Amino acid sequence: MINNFEYYSPTRVVFGKGTEQQVGKLIKEYGGSRVLIVYGGKSAIHSGLLEKIKNILLQENLYIAELGGVVPNPHLEKVYEGIQVGKREQIDFLLAIGGGSTIDTAKAIAYGLAEPEKDVWELYGHTRTAEKCLPVASILTISAAGSETSRGSVITNEKTHAKRAYDDNLARPKFAIMNPDLTKTLPDYQTESGCVDIMMHTMERYFTNGGNMEITDALAEGLLRTVMKNAQILHTEPENYEARAEVMWAGSIAHNDLTGCGNDGGDFMSHKLEHELGGMFDVTHGAGLAAIWPSWARYVYQDCLPRFSRFAKNVMGVNSNASEEEIAVQGIDAMEKFYHSIGMPINFQELGIHPDNQQIREMAERCCIASGSHTGSAKKLTVEDMAAIYLMANQTGK
Ligand code: NZQ
Ligand code: ZN
Repeated sequence: MINNFEYYSPTRVVFGKGTEQQVGKLIKEYGGSRVLIVYGGKSAIHSGLLEKIKNILLQENLYIAELGGVVPNPHLEKVYEGIQVGKREQIDFLLAIGGGSTIDTAKAIAYGLAEPEKDVWELYGHTRTAEKCLPVASILTISAAGSETSRGSVITNEKTHAKRAYDDNLARPKFAIMNPDLTKTLPDYQTESGCVDIMMHTMERYFTNGGNMEITDALAEGLLRTVMKNAQILHTEPENYEARAEVMWAGSIAHNDLTGCGNDGGDFMSHKLEHELGGMFDVTHGAGLAAIWPSWARYVYQDCLPRFSRFAKNVMGVNSNASEEEIAVQGIDAMEKFYHSIGMPINFQELGIHPDNQQIREMAERCCIASGSHTGSAKKLTVEDMAAIYLMANQTGK
């Protein structure tokens, strides 16, 4: 069955070497004049990228203000700080330099500045929807979250440890500058976590019981094979431009909804289970996904057997006369081997966290609340299922 769909991916992608030189002209083209540059801890300072971009904007006579210090699993407090800076400086355009955390922070600030009389956290608590959003764009320095073209943003309320997503086309970035060279300074762990996240964005859309299309499956399977191949290249050759370029472009396609056309909206429970890990233990998102996915897969595969066996054959290269069920399990085994080959964990112990039973219960309950009515497509999960998957990942993943 092919579901009706709307595909909306308006972000202009400017891809390749040296493309960051165009940032000033692009901001002007999209009506920006007073720009808030949002960046993370230190990578953009150390690489000299921040200074370079500031000079380019000043040459274009753009007014700039700065907000640094965004952390991974970005904090609500930083969003509020950014809204204050934005109001004071009369900002009309948000430019993020970094990855998912800085882009998501910029999106949240953009919502907050567009409707300054309302509390932006209400969006992430899903008690209202946004009516307006200031324009956002990014210079991407890590291939992972796909926020550079996605409608999503994910913010952590550091006081309650609630990590919550808000999805809205209003925040789709105006443009994304994607120069693969800018990702060469990444530590291997971040590069590989990013590759896992990219794959997961497509796998979340692939493992469904609610419809699919041949073209969408072909794109998804090709994307997964390409990212796996290039993730392994980057594990030993971090300077390889071609591999960085393949992964970077895959990162956008994986999460701009192209690999979900015709399905039922996807599963996304691995992501929801992981967001609770990020909120409670501050783990790197992609590594957290690698640690939870095998347990999720073993828990649900029997309810989604045709997709799991297809995945095993077309993506993981399983070639066997075994039963459909055995082939599905061999595919999961093969994915675990792949994660290990790029230095990624496959359970909580390898991730470096040891939640106790009370914390597992708490995460399951929070995950249930955050999921609302959408608790999976491969298998609809109850709170007990969620706790059982956390428990599996906390033991051996099996
Ligand atoms: O803070 P700095 O010093 O910049 O260091 C960052 C950070 O420590 C570092 N880094 C980034 N570019 C670098 C670099 N280090 C050296 N050289 C470079 N070129 O990498 C670390 C991770 O950065 P972060 O922005 O957190 O990475 P990522 O892009 O993986 O973003 C993760 C966040 O995005 C959310 C995740 O939940 C997580 O909070 N997601 C957002 C989505 C969306 N908006 O659509 C969807 C995703 O599923 C995801 O949930
Ligand atoms: Zn993700």
